Amino acid sequence: MHLILLLVFFVSPAYAWLPLEDWGSGNVTSSVGGSGQCVCHVFLPDITFPANRVESVQISSNQLTVDVELHINKLISFKGQLVVLLEELSNLTIRLEVVESGPDKYIKLEFELLKIELRQFEALVTELKGSFNSSSPAFDSLYNEIHNMSIIVDQLESYDQSNLEVIRIEFAKLQKKLEKCRDDQDDFSNAQTGSCKHGGILRVGKPVVSQLNANLNTGYIYGGWGKDTKPLPGSENMYWYSASTNTQVRYITTYSDYYRLILRQSMKTYDLYTSKDWRGLGNNYIVRANVWYYQFSNPFSMAKYNLTSQTVAYRVVPMASSRFSYHYSANQNLDFATDEKGLWVTYATEESKGKLVLGRIDEEAFALSAVYETSVFKQSVTNAFMICGVLYVTRSVDIHKEEIFYTYDTNARKESYISIPFEKFQENYMYLDYNPTDQKLYMYNNGYYVSYNVKFKSA
Ligand SMILES: *[C@@H]1O[C@H](CO)[C@@H](O)[C@H](O)[C@H]1NC(C)=O
Ligand SMILES: *[C@@H]1O[C@H](CO)[C@@H](O)[C@H](O)[C@H]1NC(C)=O
Ligand SMILES: *[C@@H]1O[C@H](CO)[C@@H](O)[C@H](O)[C@H]1NC(C)=O
Ligand SMILES: *[C@@H]1O[C@H](CO)[C@@H](O)[C@H](O)[C@H]1NC(C)=O
Ligand SMILES: *[C@@H]1O[C@H](CO)[C@@H](O)[C@H](O)[C@H]1NC(C)=O
Repeated sequence: MHLILLLVFFVSPAYAWLPLEDWGSGNVTSSVGGSGQCVCHVFLPDITFPANRVESVQISSNQLTVDVELHINKLISFKGQLVVLLEELSNLTIRLEVVESGPDKYIKLEFELLKIELRQFEALVTELKGSFNSSSPAFDSLYNEIHNMSIIVDQLESYDQSNLEVIRIEFAKLQKKLEKCRDDQDDFSNAQTGSCKHGGILRVGKPVVSQLNANLNTGYIYGGWGKDTKPLPGSENMYWYSASTNTQVRYITTYSDYYRLILRQSMKTYDLYTSKDWRGLGNNYIVRANVWYYQFSNPFSMAKYNLTSQTVAYRVVPMASSRFSYHYSANQNLDFATDEKGLWVTYATEESKGKLVLGRIDEEAFALSAVYETSVFKQSVTNAFMICGVLYVTRSVDIHKEEIFYTYDTNARKESYISIPFEKFQENYMYLDYNPTDQKLYMYNNGYYVSYNVKFKSA
């Protein structure tokens, strides 16, 4: 159920302004493109286009572009889409209750609105279905159910108590299905959250593409996103995002939950360059306990920016060199990671001749408490992350594929060469980290938020 959704829209930007019922008179079809991507065609009948809206449309063409991109982004992720579908369904359910309890004169109107919205809902699912592997029986049946429901509602000529009962039953069934789909996504990991009673990664799921970055700009290829890896109470659902058109690190934005992240409704944006210059480099940071760990620019060192107090502290990492970076980007000299065991940083030194070194960070002291040397050259590595005290190192296989090719187990002080390939959404990525709170990998892939589920070997 984890697929890359790539939607190509043939749609006049002007239509982004149209209210829902105008979208509803359109017609959505989908097909699989030459390279296996999913192409979604939206046909909108010109005859219904209201000429009087053209003027206001032309005036705000900038806003229009944003609106169209938002519409496209809204359709990018399955998981994100499910969140939206569930909310829309619950909106429909509320509306249904209003219809039922309202005085008679409103009932007819509300009932018509309900029909229109259901049509919308169907269009949304049609688009979603088009972007799926057709061999997904769960999704086919979900689609059929919504389609059936839409037919049923259409057939209901008039408002009637028993008709509403039929709709209500259909809604309840649908909600269960949607929730199951959502839960199936979360079932991938087979180890208890926080537990290290497993034998390490068995395989990595398909990339789940959530969204183009919140700047809605494909030029923002240097960045990262994710969740706090040790959230403060009340911030368990918080997401963060940081990106730039270059390797400099300056802003970080927080979102109260996934839904807000997708809708780009931020909580707060923090700036590392105000009265003091606390900017960083390299986009290999991590957020832990509301503290942002990143590579400080000047002097070259590891830094922590406390989002609560908005203060910074930095420490030089002994021996770390600013000469060695990862394969896809310059200036990625210090890479922060967290796992079930704590906080880590990888780098290379002149002494190691550019080979990757792993340091364990004592969070209290904000200093290295242990150092492990590996035998892989940092410059051939694309990224690295930690799970249960084991360092996983990736490299590029080709433009579509990446591979975890090396591990270093700090528990046993033992290294191994392995091969766990996984798909990329796009070729280059600047950020890859594991989050122990949900056991997912978070990747910032050429400006897109991408995540992966991980399946572990049994212990
Ligand atoms: C949808 O579009 C296709 C292709 O233009 C057309 O054949 C079909 O009749 C349309 N369906 C509706 C319901 O408008
Ligand atoms: C659901 O309804 C609320 C309140 O009317 C609205 O703000 C929200 O955007 C709706 N959600 C969706 C997904 O339509
Ligand atoms: C779709 O599913 C089939 C059968 O399960 C599988 O062989 C194929 O690789 C899948 N395609 C994609 C793009 O995931
Ligand atoms: C949809 O309707 C068709 C025809 O009435 C029926 O055979 C099918 O079982 C229904 N599917 C679902 C998922 O309810
Ligand atoms: C961050 O700042 C808050 C408020 O001053 C403080 O309570 C907390 O301990 C700080 N966190 C770290 C990791 O320093």
